[in-house]
Amino acid sequence: MKIVFYGIGNMASAIFKGMINEGVKPEEIFVTSIPGDPLLELFKEELGVMPSLNDAELLKNADYVVFATKPQDFESVVERVKANLEDKTKLISIMAGTTIETIQSKLNGNETVRIMPNTNAVVQKAVNGVAFSENFTNKEELLKLIETFGTNVLIEESEFNRITAATGSGPAFLYYLYEKYADSLVNLGFSKEQADVLTRELVIGTAEMMKNTDLPLSTLRENITSKKGTTDAGLKSLHKHDIEKIFDQTLEAAKTRGEELSKD
Ligand SMILES: NC(=O)c1ccc[n+]([C@@H]2O[C@H](COP(=O)([O-])OP(=O)(O)OC[C@H]3O[C@@H](n4cnc5c(N)ncnc54)[C@H](OP(=O)(O)O)[C@@H]3O)[C@@H](O)[C@H]2O)c1
Repeated sequence: MKIVFYGIGNMASAIFKGMINEGVKPEEIFVTSIPGDPLLELFKEELGVMPSLNDAELLKNADYVVFATKPQDFESVVERVKANLEDKTKLISIMAGTTIETIQSKLNGNETVRIMPNTNAVVQKAVNGVAFSENFTNKEELLKLIETFGTNVLIEESEFNRITAATGSGPAFLYYLYEKYADSLVNLGFSKEQADVLTRELVIGTAEMMKNTDLPLSTLRENITSKKGTTDAGLKSLHKHDIEKIFDQTLEAAKTRGEELSKD
């Protein structure tokens, strides 16, 4: 298999590191960037991937081309790709806001899949929203390939702004909550260092619990809430605030921004 990455920034490198960790051979992964980018040599040395700035060489016999630049750089990538793109090459885009129709209209209608991963791809635990073009064949191979860095959720392309808000931006929303939790631990009397360790370990342990059970989240909560106990007292205070409404507004704002960006 030959997979070519246009763009080797945060997301792309998380993705090809995940692929390599799960057994894709580094010499099957070709990477390109703008001339002079020191990451090209660095990733060659660190991971054994194949750097090149020669588009004809990169695209020859490619199975997949991954578009991993910012959307505003897509035009410059199209200029590099279009003369040498083969009909059989499938296109994978992780660019926010760029539609399958736009990609296909610029690149001969080649089979295209849009993915919205999130930053947790770095630890191979992304959630990947996935939408295929109508002409996409052998979806199973693609799904297996991207499962190397996360869990796939098949969606309609019209749902992309929703999944971007939910799981693309989601890690930032959760980090913000944990940050505030740690601040409250300091208010409670812990040192900053203690608050940081306590919060991280609490979150990691709770996530592991969720991973290891099929019980609903409400049951997990109820299991540790005895009547009139300490947890009950804390939850009663929490219930006075309409947390669901806060999240409704947060997610709505992120989704609306996604819609605005798609129109730009
Ligand atoms: N970060 C996330 O959590 C996340 C989640 C889901 C989707 N995404 C999407 O993933 C895409 C990349 O995000 P990122 O955070 O990885 O961005 P990034 O770190 O800025 O990476 C983009 C890379 O593409 C390079 N580039 C620009 N023009 C190019 C060209 N013509 N040919 C080849 N390479 C070129 C850039 O080089 P220079 O820096 O030198 O310009 C940069 O290294 C975005 O479209 C974003 O919407 C990101």
